[in-house]
Amino acid sequence: MQIYEFKSNGSEETLSIAKNLGNRLEPNDLILLEGDLGAGKTTFTKGLAAGLDIQRNVNSPTFTIIKEYHGRLPLYHMDVYRVENEFEDLGIDEYFDRDGVTVIEWAHLIEEQLPNESLVIYLYHEGEDRRKIVFKPTGARYEALCKEFWNENFSD
Ligand SMILES: Nc1ncnc2c1ncn2[C@@H]1O[C@H](COP(=O)(O)OP(=O)(O)OP(=O)(O)O)[C@@H](O)[C@H]1O
Ligand SMILES: [Mg+2]
Repeated sequence: MQIYEFKSNGSEETLSIAKNLGNRLEPNDLILLEGDLGAGKTTFTKGLAAGLDIQRNVNSPTFTIIKEYHGRLPLYHMDVYRVENEFEDLGIDEYFDRDGVTVIEWAHLIEEQLPNESLVIYLYHEGEDRRKIVFKPTGARYEALCKEFWNENFSD
């Protein structure tokens, strides 16, 4: 399986990478965000929202689980960090086919409720403002998305 790895040297760079990806997103895309506490999952989501032409400020939905925003496509932003057990029925599957983009922070905590195909994005601390970002696509749609993203931004 192909994975894509790159560095970010500050939140602006992460926002810009995410915005670029957000520009390419299509109805019913699913992005799963993983990685260290405070590594930048919500920051990445802000960038995705910018790429979806969402004007409202995106912030962490920890206490509401799901927040919905409207732009070129709807964005369903979830943070399942506080979910008590992986089988707790959040009804999140209802969001997957509503023609928006679903983004889930800490998605592995509800692994059982997720479809097989998604783009998993890992963010790791590598110093104060430095992060490693890894894209791990599953399925033809996400593989094509990553390949296009990579070719247009990182191949020389
Ligand atoms: N290269 C970088 N990429 C992303 N964020 C960065 C970077 N450098 C510094 N930061 C800062 O790190 C913090 C990341 O916070 P953020 O809420 O996005 O992380 P998170 O992974 O969503 O946290 P949580 O685990 O609590 O959900 C922000 O304050 C951001 O400004
Ligand atoms: Mg967060």
